[in-house]
Amino acid sequence: MTEKLDVLISAEKIQVRLQELAQQVREDYGDEPLLLVGILKGSYQLISDFSRYLGGEVKIDFAQISSYGEGTTSSGLVRFKKDLDLSLEGEHVLIVEDIVDTGLTLNHLLELFQTRRPASMRVLTLLSKPAARAYPARVDYLGFEIDDVFVVGYGLDYAERYRNLPYVGVVRSQP
Ligand code: PRP
Repeated sequence: MTEKLDVLISAEKIQVRLQELAQQVREDYGDEPLLLVGILKGSYQLISDFSRYLGGEVKIDFAQISSYGEGTTSSGLVRFKKDLDLSLEGEHVLIVEDIVDTGLTLNHLLELFQTRRPASMRVLTLLSKPAARAYPARVDYLGFEIDDVFVVGYGLDYAERYRNLPYVGVVRSQP
């Protein structure tokens, strides 16, 4: 079944915002080398576009997380599907997320990655849903704050579909 989508954030708006964020990040870090950590799968478009705007010395790595317990009263369990290849020790790490929803994934990653002794660690996310937050999760660079609606596109899926859209859309509720 194909759902009807409404555009929430256009491809053009996303690209403009990413260029602004890249400029802000480079102003903050100067010429320091950065290690971008993309959280799969949702961040694949974001880390690709953002890293091209960022310039300078950049390393890229990926982690993949599977989370359980969202929307329940459980404290939430998080399991690595793929850990990083690179060491974080002494690196200026920028975690790159497509969306921070309940905050479970990010909360867990920040706690874990901090034990690996990075020189610094910050978080960039394209989207944040503050109304859905259930776990404390710090965001340093934010693309867009959105309402608690189900979004797809630009990396985000609905049953693994729509990740390839160049914009962020909302599934239209059926009458
Ligand atoms: C999504 C998204 C974030 C996480 C945010 O990933 O990419 O990593 O959920 O939700 P949270 O703040 O409630 O933890 P998902 O687990 O759907 O995997 P995917 O990126 O492979 O689709």
